[in-house]
Amino acid sequence: MAILVTGGAGYIGSHTCVELLNAGYEVVVVDNLCNSSEEALRRVKEITGKNIKFYKTDLLWERELREIFQTEKIDAVIHFAGLKAVGESVQKPLEYYHNNITGTLVLLGVMREFGVKNIVFSSSATVYGKPETVPIKEDFPLSTTNPYGSTKLMLENILRDLHHADSSWNIILLRYFNPIGAHKSGLIGEDPQGIPNNLVPYITQTAVGKHEAVGVFGNDYDTPDGSGVRDYIHVADLADGHVKAVEKLAQQPGLCTYNLGTGTGYSVFDMIKAFSRVCGKDIPYVLKPRRPGDIAVCYADVTLAREELGWSAKRGLDEMCEDAWRWQQNNPNGYK
Ligand code: NAD
Ligand code: WQD
Repeated sequence: MAILVTGGAGYIGSHTCVELLNAGYEVVVVDNLCNSSEEALRRVKEITGKNIKFYKTDLLWERELREIFQTEKIDAVIHFAGLKAVGESVQKPLEYYHNNITGTLVLLGVMREFGVKNIVFSSSATVYGKPETVPIKEDFPLSTTNPYGSTKLMLENILRDLHHADSSWNIILLRYFNPIGAHKSGLIGEDPQGIPNNLVPYITQTAVGKHEAVGVFGNDYDTPDGSGVRDYIHVADLADGHVKAVEKLAQQPGLCTYNLGTGTGYSVFDMIKAFSRVCGKDIPYVLKPRRPGDIAVCYADVTLAREELGWSAKRGLDEMCEDAWRWQQNNPNGYK
């Protein structure tokens, strides 16, 4: 079976390619490399000893996408490709809506044309907006606070409408919590461009001396230590979740939605402590004001994925930190 992985050169996509290849799937990647490097795919081949077909193509280029579907025999699509920086999406809403929404519409149109009606979509816990309680279940109300999040919610709605109109589509919406960590080999990992927006890359870059200190965005939240609490999940566990989702597609499930998290929340201070322990040195931090749009606590109820996908996260916090640290040390400048 051949799986088309859009955005397969990116952070989560490259780890998912490894797990798909290890599980015996053929993998075809489409990526325009706007936020990634072909080197990631070379390293996926090195890790697995298997080949990947790569098309450097933009999802917005319908003709090229059609040619790929003509050439390859695609059974299912895992759709990662998209722009993902929350702050940037507030500055550049049109670019985000165009790339994420139009790109997906083009993809879905070509899939329909070629009779490929199986898709796993990368959604996000961001679609829960400001949840009233935790743990968060899949049937909680949905809302968003920024254009990036709105693209995810709109795309979920588009996919729900598509399934409503034509129930022969099989669609799995995966809502990721906070993916961190890297492949055990230290060969692939997260490679943010410029100054990282997310906590963990900022911590690891501080540990290697690229920044003076980690800014802790608020210590006055209603949480045990006052800092924000999140459900950090090892990217390799997330990748395994996609293999389970592809297996599920083969059972023709219709439309399903699953949280992919661990079900456990850790605070910013927990994360700084855990990384300090793993790196063997104190990671300096400074207190900063709250970041606009942040919520106090966010972690998943993961019952549904366990029951229906037979999936649960296996790797704990120390392993996430050790693997992120190995990647950072071996690749201080990412793939460059
Ligand atoms: P990433 O930026 O590393 O990967 C996305 C990939 O898509 C990149 O390789 C980029 O070059 C490619 N891409 C973007 N627009 C494209 C287009 N028009 N045509 C072709 N390729 C295009 O991001 P990631 O962290 O691996 O995230 C993957 C998916 O998961 C995204 O949809 C993201 O929104 C979603 N997600 C990520 C997180 C997270 O914290 N990393 C959390 C929830 C959801
Ligand atoms: C985690 C915690 C911050 C940086 C984001 C997106 C979300 C999803 C995952 C795509 C929070 C605090 C952070 C720093 C800090 N992405 N923090 N200092 O905001 O939970 O989720 O990535 O779908 O949509 O919003 O992740 O890593 O930015 O923040 O104190 O330098 O760390 O306030 O409590 P977030 P994050």
